[in-house]
Amino acid sequence: ASTLGAAAAQSGRYFGTAIAGSRLNDSTYTTIAGREFNMITAENEMKPDATEPNRGQFSFSAGDQIYNWATQRGLKVRGHTLAWHSQQPGWMQSLSGSTLRQAMIDHINGVMAHYKGKLAAWDVVNEAFNEDGSRRNSNLQGTGNDWIEVAFRTARAADPSVKLCYNDYNIENWSYGKTQGVYNMIRDFKSRGVPIDCVGLQTHFTGGSSLPGNFSTTLQSFAALGVDVALTEVDVTNASTSQYAGLTQACMNVPRCIGITVWGVRDSDSWRSGESPLLFDGSGNKKAAYTSVLNALNAA
Ligand code: G3I
Repeated sequence: ASTLGAAAAQSGRYFGTAIAGSRLNDSTYTTIAGREFNMITAENEMKPDATEPNRGQFSFSAGDQIYNWATQRGLKVRGHTLAWHSQQPGWMQSLSGSTLRQAMIDHINGVMAHYKGKLAAWDVVNEAFNEDGSRRNSNLQGTGNDWIEVAFRTARAADPSVKLCYNDYNIENWSYGKTQGVYNMIRDFKSRGVPIDCVGLQTHFTGGSSLPGNFSTTLQSFAALGVDVALTEVDVTNASTSQYAGLTQACMNVPRCIGITVWGVRDSDSWRSGESPLLFDGSGNKKAAYTSVLNALNAA
């Protein structure tokens, strides 16, 4: 196949990108995005600060713009994200305790009701762990260690049809403390029947030419717990072709690795634009890393 999305579809997977609403009037951008990708994540527009700017007053115009752009083209959408220490609206940042706990529940219910039955997955909780595998200190963590499972139980009840994911970065290396912390939480959730369907490994790679240690083992180990895995925010320093090929191959090797999303279209669209980390250059030309990914998808 000659596009990333079609090549991934040959093995029943998707290949996605993050879309920024501010770029949707750029025809070079939309042409590439609509041609190459078949899964879309809103880069910022479905986050708590965007969707509930004032408590109890929801705003879906920016998220819906991306949702509509995608679905008009037959592309699926991942929701990102419902409960996170970052990009909280100001009113939420100042809450704590039972008030914040209830605000989190109300936020999940309000946003998920709007998108009920429409999305492929939700990143229910994002980035809740420290590098050593302990829980990240945040206002949400301060409401009690059970906040993550409360978020997932709330989400399942709000929309039983959507896949519920835990999403984080630096959980690709199996020997890393954070990977083990997340793994132990997922194992605990599965053993106690806390609803969770998937783990998103953000896959923001920095430097080097080889993959983080035992990346395939990590994917296989999560999958063996009975969850799908996905690479959800891929970008790689200077778009190392060997790392791009390797991460693609690692996903293809694991039947429950259901898809790959890169975190932006062109280098100039990236939050790491100074590191040229994506598959298209600033002019929209395919880079060498594009070919390495396409070949790995086609070989699967
Ligand atoms: O929209 C405002 C604009 O009005 C204002 O003039 C400008 C001035 O700074 O800021 C604009 O907002 C920025 C927004 O991106 C849109 O461009 C925010 O400052 C900026 O903080 C925000 O950064 C986003 C970042 O998350 C925030 O945490 C990045 O675009 C986005 O790519 C990044 O994505 C995260 C994932 O959600 C989670 N994993 C890590 C990943 C990379 O940091």
